[in-house]
Amino acid sequence: MPLPLVATARIAVLPSAVADQIAAGEVVERPSSVAKELIENALDAGATAIDLAIEDGGRQSIRISDDGSGMSREDAVMSLERHATSKIRAAHDLVGVRSFGFRGEALAAICSVSHLELETAPDDGAGTLVRASGGAILDVTDIARRRGTTVRVARLFYNAPARLKFLRGARSEGRAILDVIGTMALTRRDVRITFMHDAKPMLALPVATTLRDRLAAIHGGAFAGRLLDVDDVSGTTHVSGVVERPADAGTSTRRAFLSVNGRAVRDTGIVRAAESAYRSTIPAGVRPTLFLDVVVAADMVDVNVHPAKAEVRFRDRWQVERAVEAAVRRALGTFDAGPTFGRMVWTTVPLPAPEPVSVDVESLRASATADGLFEPDHAEVVTEAHVNSVPEASPAPVVSDVPPLMQLQRSYLMFEHDHGVVLIDQHSAHERVLYEQFMRTLERGDQPSQRLLFPMTLHLGPAEGEAFEQNRSWFEQLGFEIEGFGGHTLLVRAVPMPHPRFDPERCLRETLAALTGDRDAGTHARHEKLAATVACKAAIKAGDALSPGEMRSLYIALRDTTLPAHDVHGRATIVQLTWDEIERRFGRR
Ligand SMILES: Nc1ncnc2c1ncn2[C@@H]1O[C@H](COP(=O)(O)OP(=O)(O)OP(=O)(O)O)[C@@H](O)[C@H]1O
Ligand SMILES: [Mg+2]
Repeated sequence: MPLPLVATARIAVLPSAVADQIAAGEVVERPSSVAKELIENALDAGATAIDLAIEDGGRQSIRISDDGSGMSREDAVMSLERHATSKIRAAHDLVGVRSFGFRGEALAAICSVSHLELETAPDDGAGTLVRASGGAILDVTDIARRRGTTVRVARLFYNAPARLKFLRGARSEGRAILDVIGTMALTRRDVRITFMHDAKPMLALPVATTLRDRLAAIHGGAFAGRLLDVDDVSGTTHVSGVVERPADAGTSTRRAFLSVNGRAVRDTGIVRAAESAYRSTIPAGVRPTLFLDVVVAADMVDVNVHPAKAEVRFRDRWQVERAVEAAVRRALGTFDAGPTFGRMVWTTVPLPAPEPVSVDVESLRASATADGLFEPDHAEVVTEAHVNSVPEASPAPVVSDVPPLMQLQRSYLMFEHDHGVVLIDQHSAHERVLYEQFMRTLERGDQPSQRLLFPMTLHLGPAEGEAFEQNRSWFEQLGFEIEGFGGHTLLVRAVPMPHPRFDPERCLRETLAALTGDRDAGTHARHEKLAATVACKAAIKAGDALSPGEMRSLYIALRDTTLPAHDVHGRATIVQLTWDEIERRFGRR
């Protein structure tokens, strides 16, 4: 049976105004997407200054002025047409396009769902004003204005009630716009930006050279001052920026910003790599604030995979992620990575390098060998051979400086540092030293152990006995030589020797007790957990008096760890009272 013919055609090409409105749904979701498109246009036009003002969260109006290239009268009219763009001419231009825009869609889409005024001039004086509404141009007039462009979008979605319904309140929409500007402002620090909401100044950002300076202008100097500098090159990858101190992580809203080759992107892989640098310094699940600029060779990355260019594809993702992790790890690995007392407002302070000083070799060697309590892997003593090899004419041999140390409350070491007065928590510090030592042992297995003259017998409860069985091989790798002795009795024949005050029986009992009811299991690898627990139990305690030699070797051992400023529970080993703060307290500033 033949199909019945349709009397009237059911398919028709849509009028372009309707097509524009449909397209607008993709480009323009809410006021913040309008703001984003308009800012991108201004940046593409080479603006050095952008002023944004909104009313009622952008629902009433969004106005943006730039000092960019501007447009001729002809281009101004064209720019509101769909698929009108100056940024590409042919399909092959899409490869390697550097501008934010290229679809030639944004202005047409915005115009189709608002009342739009476009004021523009390519040279001072010779300006054009185009007024349009719902996608139709109302009139075009000559005006006088300085070079640049001003776009005013009023009553967004006035003709699209379904979309209007989905807009949130003015505060919420305003905050979304602030976020868009914040992200742009971090990426393009070379542009001066101001933002007003209902005539109230919200942001005034001067041109900034560093990410930290921009952050200070956006979020305040106190916020920026608490962050640590990242700056590291591995291979062709340069990672820079600022990240949160582990001790501050989790105390406020987490923010994460990432740019790749100067473009803000979302990339969970890179963010995760940066976060993994915090391993062992913050509790599992806590997410640190990060602001990172990653620069890779242009041929190592494809930025054009995502239509909004918010995602990138790397030729060698693994290499980039490792570079990011290493860079952040290095930033966390300085004494300065500990928290500070009081407020610290960002001023440009270079990180101190350990200062080389000349010392009397004999007395140094004497003091270094007197107490070997916290002997680091590689002692800071200049060897005989090294001393002898110093040419005649040169001054005394040079070694790393250890400042004079003082013990307070039998719990803290205090010393003076380039940035201020520093306090070390002796237990936490020793815990960090031992943790790293044990982790190396567990990964390499070279812990020297000492045989006990009389094997030690330990009677355990069932839970402790089970904890031992589960961790048996790790205990052995740490240098314990233990035999099960029927039931839950252990015979300990040899124990590790991390330091002379080590009490193996107490450490073993306390570690096993801590490992029972192990709720953390799963968040940390088992050997990390064991190393952290044994380190905690084996470390010197608050209340232990330390000799000057012991303090000195603890200082050196801590300094030689990869993350000296953080213990293994997410707390600080070091806090500093900066000279800055001291001067402020004494009214010298
Ligand atoms: N602020 C501005 N200053 C100078 N020219 C502008 C400005 N805004 C828009 N234009 C011109 O208008 C054209 C159309 O802008 P529109 O945002 O619609 O498209 P696009 O930026 O080319 O691509 P996309 O749709 O991806 O944003 C641009 O290609 C540009 O030539
Ligand atoms: Mg555009």
